[in-house]
Amino acid sequence: MEYINNELHFGPKKKNLSSLCANYIRPIYVYDLDFIRSRFQQLAEALAGVRLYFAVKANPNPQVLQCLKSAGAGADVVSLGEIKRALESGFLPEDIVYSGVGKTRHEITEALQLGVLQINVESLPELQRIGEIAEKMGKKAQVALRLNPDVSIQTHPYIATGLRDNKFGMELSMIPALSDCLKKNTNSLELVGVSLHLGSQMLEFSGYQEALIKLKASFLSLQKDFPTLRRFDFGGGLGVVYEKQDFERESSLLKEYSAITKDILSDLKCELQSEPGRWLVAHAGVLLTQVQYIKKTSAKTFVIVDSGMNHLIRPSLYEAEHQILPLVQSNKKIKCDVVGPICESSDFFLKDYEMGQVEEGDYLAVLDSGAYGYSMASTYNLQELPLEICI
Ligand SMILES: Cc1ncc(COP(=O)(O)O)c(C=O)c1O
Repeated sequence: MEYINNELHFGPKKKNLSSLCANYIRPIYVYDLDFIRSRFQQLAEALAGVRLYFAVKANPNPQVLQCLKSAGAGADVVSLGEIKRALESGFLPEDIVYSGVGKTRHEITEALQLGVLQINVESLPELQRIGEIAEKMGKKAQVALRLNPDVSIQTHPYIATGLRDNKFGMELSMIPALSDCLKKNTNSLELVGVSLHLGSQMLEFSGYQEALIKLKASFLSLQKDFPTLRRFDFGGGLGVVYEKQDFERESSLLKEYSAITKDILSDLKCELQSEPGRWLVAHAGVLLTQVQYIKKTSAKTFVIVDSGMNHLIRPSLYEAEHQILPLVQSNKKIKCDVVGPICESSDFFLKDYEMGQVEEGDYLAVLDSGAYGYSMASTYNLQELPLEICI
């Protein structure tokens, strides 16, 4: 992201963002597909030998999915809706890993019918349910056990998933009961993997390291009983730097993450799988929004724009800070709250933020919004969803 002749340009091909607002009718998410491709290559090189399943929840835009499929990704999905979207975007059933804590009977039946590669199981009742449905269908479900190592990572509590008071995965103490269920249902259940996901936006890896060590031991002991166990899925969660784009820091974090992963897992004779979302797409998206009013009160200056928590909920939900830049640079600065049109005081992008001066009708870019942006958007207040454009 850089200003050229005072106009904001985006992505490796330096696209002038103002040109996209020529026929502006409502807020626009812009995704740069070259950027996504190059992030995928960088991750694939750092994690050579690991099969990468893109976490569709981060950005289910069909063109984004097609781009990642053609780059070599599989898909990590958490609903029948995401399975359908992945298939429509060119993924094959054998490219799909199906996670999620609340799979319904209908979803499991469809997933088995389609023949997805692997179902990551999140509870004993789910394992029993899958066994029962597969038995009736005359199928053998390929399952991985999502284990919860009870390890904490430094992230917002709402996106931590690897602690025992989180709803995700199964405690290691459940392994005997799970093994028992698998042994009683050898016609309908085949244990193919062990999986892990500690949460999202990890920028520090001591918890991750501890979890890999714990899970490796579980994997090895399970393998003695289940020779079909052949995959280790170490989840997603690698974080990005939001405050100010810092690709050097991200490269060194990636090096550290891949070194820990290889150090612990490379002697396991199995397929390694990962489920990255945010790292691949966050920086490749911006949200363009138009200034509607500059409202001054005795306490603040509010820049009221036509997009808000309805389109990008991360600031309201996780106290996330996305940098905001006017599309046209100004030498004058203002200090303001950038807020949306929604009838909630939590509807803000940034508070007490210093940025270039803007006026009614100007456009702003909310940076790094390619992950968990549009996919979490709603029509709250019956506002329209934003547009999406791929460049
Ligand atoms: C099971 C699972 N895998 C992968 C991901 C992707 O995480 P991230 O986007 O942080 O890489 C998530 C997101 O929370 C998840 O729940």
